[in-house]
Amino acid sequence: MRKYNVAVVGATGAVGEELFRILEEQKFPIRTLLPLASARSAGSEIEFNGKSVKVVELTENVFEKHNIEIAFFSAGGDVSAHFAPFAAEAGAVVIDNTSHFRMDADVPLVVPECNPADILLWKTRGIIANPNCSTIQMVQALKPLDDAFGIKRVDVSTYQAVSGAGKSGMEELVHQMQEFFAFRLGDVVPQKFPHQIALNLIPQIDVFLENDYTKEEIKMVKETQKILHKNVEVSATCVRVPVLRSHSEAITIHFEKDVDAEKARDILKNAPSIVVVDEPENKKYPMPLIATDTDFTYVGRIRNDIYQSNILHLWCVADQIRVGAATNAVRIAQKWIELEGQD
Ligand SMILES: NC(=O)c1ccc[n+]([C@@H]2O[C@H](COP(=O)([O-])OP(=O)(O)OC[C@H]3O[C@@H](n4cnc5c(N)ncnc54)[C@H](OP(=O)(O)O)[C@@H]3O)[C@@H](O)[C@H]2O)c1
Repeated sequence: MRKYNVAVVGATGAVGEELFRILEEQKFPIRTLLPLASARSAGSEIEFNGKSVKVVELTENVFEKHNIEIAFFSAGGDVSAHFAPFAAEAGAVVIDNTSHFRMDADVPLVVPECNPADILLWKTRGIIANPNCSTIQMVQALKPLDDAFGIKRVDVSTYQAVSGAGKSGMEELVHQMQEFFAFRLGDVVPQKFPHQIALNLIPQIDVFLENDYTKEEIKMVKETQKILHKNVEVSATCVRVPVLRSHSEAITIHFEKDVDAEKARDILKNAPSIVVVDEPENKKYPMPLIATDTDFTYVGRIRNDIYQSNILHLWCVADQIRVGAATNAVRIAQKWIELEGQD
């Protein structure tokens, strides 16, 4: 099998570290691996397949110099905006985890379980965008139901883990909990989040826009429409919760046709990357603790609306660093190799 020269930009971050684990687990066909980060971390080492690999500083010509063929980017939107075109220009396919290119008409936005053929549009810019973590797990559950019953509208409330804000988000929750047990929480000044996150919920993720929705909420609207190729109505309320890892979502779906919860459950049981955990009588339903460190999107609490026969409610949980970022990126790369990789 052909092997590839692979770069990971953001190698020392939450998503970058998980990417290495998944590339290892999946036995991804790597010839050389190039971990990239800022000058702050250059020279440090990451472990890959039992060996230490040095982190190199990200520069404009590093992709050309190392003949990189696949470049995963997860170092923030500004880094992707500046450096991804250099990687693409050097001949690599860029798989970008940031929001920077997602809504560009000539950049495919891909969840392989939903719209794998869109990968073929990569050639125009050399870039494939990975959707927002909250969007990925939601569309994985929506797509099979849309195919069966036709979705008209989606109302979603998210319960998003602190690691969605990177390593420093996790550190902020842990630090605040330590301060709470030392009776010093009152002195803590929030850094990463707009308010204290320990023992709290914050109904704001990213900045507010003119229409009073946050940027995160509008990402869920626009990205869902782009991936499903459909102007489905979406309304989102995104909330940060004091959970370390894995996002949860309460989703209400309005269909064109009448829908039966039992049928929906069967469809989801057969859908790719979905695990149905729906035995309320045995207290079994998806929770962050069962989703963490896995590559599945867990769906449960599937039930008909009390009033209208074309409405379904469900609860969906996934590890947003894996399913919502690193795993989806690796699945895109695997699909890209299948469709476009040369022998
Ligand atoms: N966390 C999630 O659940 C999640 C999910 C989906 C998408 N994303 C997206 O993925 C990206 C990374 O998120 P994260 O959670 O991994 O963040 P993180 O834990 O804060 O890590 C950021 C990474 O970017 C690197 N970096 C920062 N500035 C850089 C620069 N100027 N040049 C080169 N490297 C630089 C950092 O390297 P240094 O060590 O050198 O600082 C670090 O490796 C973000 O765009 C985020 O929106 C995150």
